[in-house]
Amino acid sequence: MAPSYFYFENNNDCDIIVYNMIDIKKIKNDFPLLNKQINSKPIIYFDSACMSLKPRQVIEAMNEYYYEYPACAGRSSHRLGELVTNKVKEVRQIVAKFINANSEKEIVFVRNTTEAINLLANSLNFKENDIILTTDKEHNSNLIPWQALVNKKGIKHLIVKSRDDGTFDFESYRKLVKGVTLVSMVHTSNLDGMTIPAKEIIKIAHENGSLVFLDAAQSAPHKKIDVKDLDVDFLAFSCHKMLGPTGTGIFYAKYGLLEKLDPFLVGGDTVEYSTYESHKMLEAPEKFEAGLQNYAGIIGIGEAVKYLEAIGFDNIKEQELKLNSFITEELNKLSKIKIIGSADSALRSGIISFYIKETDMHQIALMLDEMSNIMIRSGQHCVHSWFNDKKIKNSARVSLYFYNTMEEAEKFISCINKIIKIL
Ligand code: ALA
Repeated sequence: MAPSYFYFENNNDCDIIVYNMIDIKKIKNDFPLLNKQINSKPIIYFDSACMSLKPRQVIEAMNEYYYEYPACAGRSSHRLGELVTNKVKEVRQIVAKFINANSEKEIVFVRNTTEAINLLANSLNFKENDIILTTDKEHNSNLIPWQALVNKKGIKHLIVKSRDDGTFDFESYRKLVKGVTLVSMVHTSNLDGMTIPAKEIIKIAHENGSLVFLDAAQSAPHKKIDVKDLDVDFLAFSCHKMLGPTGTGIFYAKYGLLEKLDPFLVGGDTVEYSTYESHKMLEAPEKFEAGLQNYAGIIGIGEAVKYLEAIGFDNIKEQELKLNSFITEELNKLSKIKIIGSADSALRSGIISFYIKETDMHQIALMLDEMSNIMIRSGQHCVHSWFNDKKIKNSARVSLYFYNTMEEAEKFISCINKIIKIL
């Protein structure tokens, strides 16, 4: 059945349905928050890079679990237990297909990207003098676990600096990648929305014998991830940034690598059997999922993926680009404002991160909220290292998703113009 989120055009020549644009009215019906008001004004939610909104389909599926079958997976053989076990299996398959993994056995459920990176850092068996190579725009989640290993195990951490326009510097990368154990990089930056040319980076890393991890927290919600096409070894994303429940994420690894990793959390449901002296671990992915899991969350992930696929990444990209281009163009008219990253909005996904010299951007965020319920994030966005290096205090960040509208973007620009006059 055709998804309900689009206007359709029937192409009579070849009988193909063309999904040509997002129907915002229908989408608004699915996102309860977008119909609420504060002080008689609608909420303008521009903070999806931190946490996306959830459609009612996701919320209802989770409620259904709690009301109808709130049991454990993989343990109890009664009917409700079996139902949860089957649901978890089904969602693993849905996610595997979503990122084009070889099989659902390559999918591990985690709480978030941070947990996935910690899993990798503590499971890959790093030795003294092993080298990790990151970019200079890593979220703390892809920085602190490696700094911890520098302290604990004596590994080395190298950084590829971006070019001045925020793009990836291949010349510097080719020099640094030699002898590297793991290239661990942010796919799309939460700081400036820019995406690294991952396929080429991975090819070069593999030619050099290095493994590659991609932090896809900000890319998986906005573009098609094809792990086979990328040939990436490890990848992770947080489902709460892509319509899913809070505290849910995915860790992907090529199965041959995953089965060799040692789990860093062990206990219930990670072993086939145990005696007083020993135990036999289960195979991957189960051996990584210790203890009772967030079953409602996992079920919610399945619905979130289905919803995103029905919308389609082409439509998501088109909507984000339209709004990002407009906001960028308007902000560029204000000489005080400096946008972080490329001047080309098409290279910045749904993110517009900006600052005003000698201004605390938290103030701007609070004013936007106060004036028109516009919710943006301000601060250093967990990329303190970049801000400290550049000596920039903080930035205000608009992060868009397909449920945002031109009307909202216009409201934001009108408020910013007023704020600049007040400043
Ligand atoms: N990584 C999240 C953000 O960028 C928390 O807002």
